Amino acid sequence: MALTCSASERPICRGRVLVRCSSGCSPLGWAPGDASLRRGGWTGPLPYVPGGEFAGVVEGDSGDEAGLHDGSPVYGYPGLTGCYAQYLRCPVEQLAPIPAGLPIADAAAAPIDALTAEQGLTDVLGISAGDSVLITAAAGGLGHFAVQIARILGATVVATASPQHHEFVHRLGAAEVADHTQPDWPEQVREFNGGGAGRVLACAAPTLEGAARAARDGALIATPVRAEYPGAQRVGWQHYNGQPRGSRLIRMAPWFDDGSLTVTVQARYYWQDAAQAHRIVEQGHTRGKLALIVDDDLAAALEI
Ligand SMILES: NC(=O)c1ccc[n+]([C@@H]2O[C@H](COP(=O)([O-])OP(=O)(O)OC[C@H]3O[C@@H](n4cnc5c(N)ncnc54)[C@H](OP(=O)(O)O)[C@@H]3O)[C@@H](O)[C@H]2O)c1
Repeated sequence: MALTCSASERPICRGRVLVRCSSGCSPLGWAPGDASLRRGGWTGPLPYVPGGEFAGVVEGDSGDEAGLHDGSPVYGYPGLTGCYAQYLRCPVEQLAPIPAGLPIADAAAAPIDALTAEQGLTDVLGISAGDSVLITAAAGGLGHFAVQIARILGATVVATASPQHHEFVHRLGAAEVADHTQPDWPEQVREFNGGGAGRVLACAAPTLEGAARAARDGALIATPVRAEYPGAQRVGWQHYNGQPRGSRLIRMAPWFDDGSLTVTVQARYYWQDAAQAHRIVEQGHTRGKLALIVDDDLAAALEI
């Protein structure tokens, strides 16, 4: 692989790669997702281009030093904005070649949530084979990656989701799925876990209180959601942000290639229909992700 990184994760190449985008995406969650930035969370200069993640091909020779030549398919996470665009520049250490097992039309839906899920499970929770982990909001963008990655790491997964997503979350690999629309879901989880979850990845704001109740005394709860954390005298909360590391995407490539990690794209929208995509996302019950297609030829091929 040309874009190799050292063990310390320092990229061997520097600079920004010019990318012609096929699709752009985003955390598409509540905060700090595209919709909340659009609603007024963006405090930078106006006008701004939304979108925090992309897939496309390298344009010209800007990636040559990293072995990413004109036309190489790449995907990445350049920052909070700029990806609903036909062209963008991304720091080389924040992108990676698109794995062969990941369709380019869906690849833009992976970087932020796959990286954030993997980092929460490994760096924060230290999940490894034989562990058990509770993943809340497991059918959403972040959660659906987290369930699969926890299984790849060899963990047993207890998850939460609305009933319409239970079969989906089981198919992702969860052993048990509690219905988080029911007020007693934390008690259900405590039964599954024999006294409460010891390690938890809490993937959505409305599940934070239940996550604390479902956790045993002294449990560690990781979350990328910034909030007031309930029950902090009894359980340990660890907030973290997913870091935009191309090297971590490269490390996950074999999982995409062998099919153990997939991205579910509930729907694809042409870029002119971005407002409709935001409306759907703001309902808070997306299965996996939404993707915006910005390339006209790809949109035509996909008939959107
Ligand atoms: N800081 C970071 O680096 C970072 C990175 C990525 C994501 N995030 C944050 O992580 C959060 C999740 O992002 P996402 O992309 O996964 O969002 P998403 O795809 O919109 O998923 C939202 C999830 O919330 C669940 N949910 C909605 N209403 C609920 C309720 N009343 N009770 C319980 N669960 C409910 C949904 O589950 P059902 O449909 O099954 O009800 C769904 O799984 C967002 O706050 C996002 O900003 C942060």
